[in-house]
Amino acid sequence: MESLVIRGNAFTVQDKYHVQYLADCLVCIDSDGWIERVLVPEDKDYERVLIAARQHHQLRELAEGEYLLPGFIDLHVHAPQWPQAGLALDRPLADWLNVYTFPLEARFNDRVFARKVYKDFVRTLLAHGTTTAMMFGTIHVDANMVLVDECRQQGLRGYVGQVTMDNPDQTPDYYRDHSAEEALAASEQFIQRVQASPDPDDLVTPVITPRFVPSCTDEALAGLGQLAAKYDLPIQSHVSESNWESQYAIDRFGMHDAEVLDHFGLLTARAVMAHGTQLTDGDMQLLRQQQTAIAHCPISNIYFGNGVLPVHRLLKMGNKVGLGSDISGGYTPSLYHNIRQAVKSSRMLTDGVDSKRPVEQRGVANSQITAATAFYLATAGGAHALHLAAGRIAVGCRADLQVVRAHQMWGKPSTADTFERLMYQTEAADIKGVYVNGHLVYEN
Ligand code: GUN
Ligand code: FE
Repeated sequence: MESLVIRGNAFTVQDKYHVQYLADCLVCIDSDGWIERVLVPEDKDYERVLIAARQHHQLRELAEGEYLLPGFIDLHVHAPQWPQAGLALDRPLADWLNVYTFPLEARFNDRVFARKVYKDFVRTLLAHGTTTAMMFGTIHVDANMVLVDECRQQGLRGYVGQVTMDNPDQTPDYYRDHSAEEALAASEQFIQRVQASPDPDDLVTPVITPRFVPSCTDEALAGLGQLAAKYDLPIQSHVSESNWESQYAIDRFGMHDAEVLDHFGLLTARAVMAHGTQLTDGDMQLLRQQQTAIAHCPISNIYFGNGVLPVHRLLKMGNKVGLGSDISGGYTPSLYHNIRQAVKSSRMLTDGVDSKRPVEQRGVANSQITAATAFYLATAGGAHALHLAAGRIAVGCRADLQVVRAHQMWGKPSTADTFERLMYQTEAADIKGVYVNGHLVYEN
């Protein structure tokens, strides 16, 4: 029995390279928040379902110029860094962490501060069309529970991680887990508190979260691998994010950091690793074998990545890839902006950037992706990484959706043009409504 029917023009992913347009469709959502049917005007039930929904006041009809899209899935974002989004991006990564990021994250030992930031942050994600986010918290269990609570109260699907960082060589005294045992105990306590607290809409999942290889001792990495197996949980971290990080793993372990993570049981089919700009072909193969996903963070990578992730090649080879804002390595929570940057960076990778070199030696041929592929990353690609039935407007998916108003089109645009416009020009102000599990969680 449906509880809501949305009528309008919709775009959803067809495959990694193509978008499907559904003209004047009916998206029928059941009382548990699943998409039960998607009807097009040619379907014989269409009229009957439309009339019934209207009679029962269960119909939302999109206005002229509005489009229904799947909600976006942000695969990599640091919730406590929201207050510094857009700051200090001219600093190198290690410096940025020590001078700006660690002092800010340390403030989340104050739950009142955490509430203020997380309330605004969760609202902001929804306002940008993000319906699922895989988030780093801080090392503070209480503050992380505030983030969990905001997800549940406001209706964001949240994958929330208790951050582990216990290596005294790479973390400051004022912001560190004081031992591997303490760190692992805090992670387990967080998992148990999330699992023990009521979640009627099944919105929040705890995530095992080693910050990145440099921040963690061997004992912590090993223990987190065991915790992930014991509770069968997703894992998130950073992999081969920058030249500095990659070299650090080689110096400490004599291995690439992807290999280090794998050694400790942290590259699993439920793991999502951010960035990966420095992954070798062998590392990519390892991730593929383990079915570990990569969160592509194209804006952040401009500042800290020392390179462009070869998304096109990874998708062709069968690696799992989604999209992340990486607040605040990236300056905006908007996945629309990250879609644009993913396309632009792929073009620069293809063409190269140093015009003094001969044309054929400048770039990496055939690396460009289209807006359709970037849209795939932000929707179905992210859902695939999380094993989540979402990210598409299709039967059997969660009704996690956004209603978007297109900017004025001149003449009679093709659906392909309309789609591209939406990807390039949508801002938060154009997002009129957001649904998670079929509930209207944001309206503008
Ligand atoms: N590596 C370790 N911590 C961080 C972080 O907070 N942001 C980014 N971009 N990279 C990291
Ligand atoms: Fe990050």
